Amino acid sequence: VTRTLLLVGIGAGDPDQITVEAITALNRADVAFLVEKGTDADELVDARRTLCEKHVKAPGLRFVVVPDAARDRSAGNYTGAVDDWRRRRAANLASALRSELPEEGCGALLIWGDPSLYDSMIAVVDEIRASESLDLAVEVIPGISSVQVLAARHGITLNRIGRPVMITTGRLLAQGLPDNCDDVIVMLDAHCSYKDLPAEVRSQLDIYWGAYLGTADEILVAGALDEVGEEIIARRKDARERKGWVMDTYLLRRR
Ligand SMILES: C[S@@+](CC[C@H](N)C(=O)[O-])C[C@H]1O[C@@H](n2cnc3c(N)ncnc32)[C@H](O)[C@@H]1O
Repeated sequence: VTRTLLLVGIGAGDPDQITVEAITALNRADVAFLVEKGTDADELVDARRTLCEKHVKAPGLRFVVVPDAARDRSAGNYTGAVDDWRRRRAANLASALRSELPEEGCGALLIWGDPSLYDSMIAVVDEIRASESLDLAVEVIPGISSVQVLAARHGITLNRIGRPVMITTGRLLAQGLPDNCDDVIVMLDAHCSYKDLPAEVRSQLDIYWGAYLGTADEILVAGALDEVGEEIIARRKDARERKGWVMDTYLLRRR
């Protein structure tokens, strides 16, 4: 028996930023699996249901919430801890697929933004196929990433003519701006890590920052990092206190 699993990119927050292919995929599904992190704001969970209500016309879509495995954030070995976490997530999801998805059925996993960018679901599903002896036909459907929304909102291209761009994390930026790239996109940064770059590096940078992209709470700030860096820190902190969570992405550009 083969179950079908669709990994569907659903955009970064705006229910209008979903492709026709993704809508068709959601309409094929018997079951929508929502993998919830304990830390997910209810708002983010609700947003996925609202999106399905808006776009799924086929009757009878069932929602199954899969509680995500807890991650040990205190572990010293980051890669090891993430590997272990991935294995436990794979076991969790595999058991939900076995019990909730009929044989020959079609399930959809809703993934924020695009499944290819800083999302572990493709790796988790690979792990399930390798280790859980579950026969799955997998299809990946691309979505609009927060990175694309950031660029569109600021009206910029990510690369300059003939130049590369790098996509990295706050954790890595904290170790320094790469030497070989002048356009760096930063995701997963809970600490505004640019503030810790050396002053002479900061003084050469522009920043294009966006929070809650694609939602009614969207905030955009752009300018010379030395001029707007403090404002971004303050606005991020305010918004986080008001809403209880924040998701932000930014581009650092060497002048
Ligand atoms: C686990 S990654 C998932 C990225 C997602 N796959 C994508 O394509 O955008 C989460 C990070 O994406 C960024 N992000 C996702 N949605 C966002 C949004 N609506 N506004 C700003 N940043 C967002 C943030 O940097 C956040 O830390």
